[in-house]
Amino acid sequence: MSELYTAKVLDHVHNPRNVGSLEDANVVVQAGDPGCGDALVFFIRIENNSIHDIKFLIKGCGAAIATSSVATELVMGKNLDEVMAIDDMTIAAALDGLPEEKMHCSNMAASALHAAVQQYRSTLAGETAPVG
Ligand code: FES
Repeated sequence: MSELYTAKVLDHVHNPRNVGSLEDANVVVQAGDPGCGDALVFFIRIENNSIHDIKFLIKGCGAAIATSSVATELVMGKNLDEVMAIDDMTIAAALDGLPEEKMHCSNMAASALHAAVQQYRSTLAGETAPVG
């Protein structure tokens, strides 16, 4: 694995940041990759239109762990428009790159973050019931 991955990927695989769940989350989103069966859950506390706190749980490959972990660092404190601007390329770049065949792993984190923002915004608009 080490020759495939950058030092940053390996660091996040071995020391993932913000692992766990959040009791005071006001958005919980799940994403899965049907191709490999991997799955990710983000627990997010949004306050004043920004990410106040975020944690994740995952069942997935090393790249999925690293991309989810670095994604939590990328979005911490960011406003929701900034979160929507983060995509799979942003996440891969924050890890100094991913092998091409592992790009779908970073797409799982990016699409989950976008779904979280959309869920929060529709909750504010009264379209869905709030979580917690
Ligand atoms: Fe499934 Fe990485 S192989 S998310």
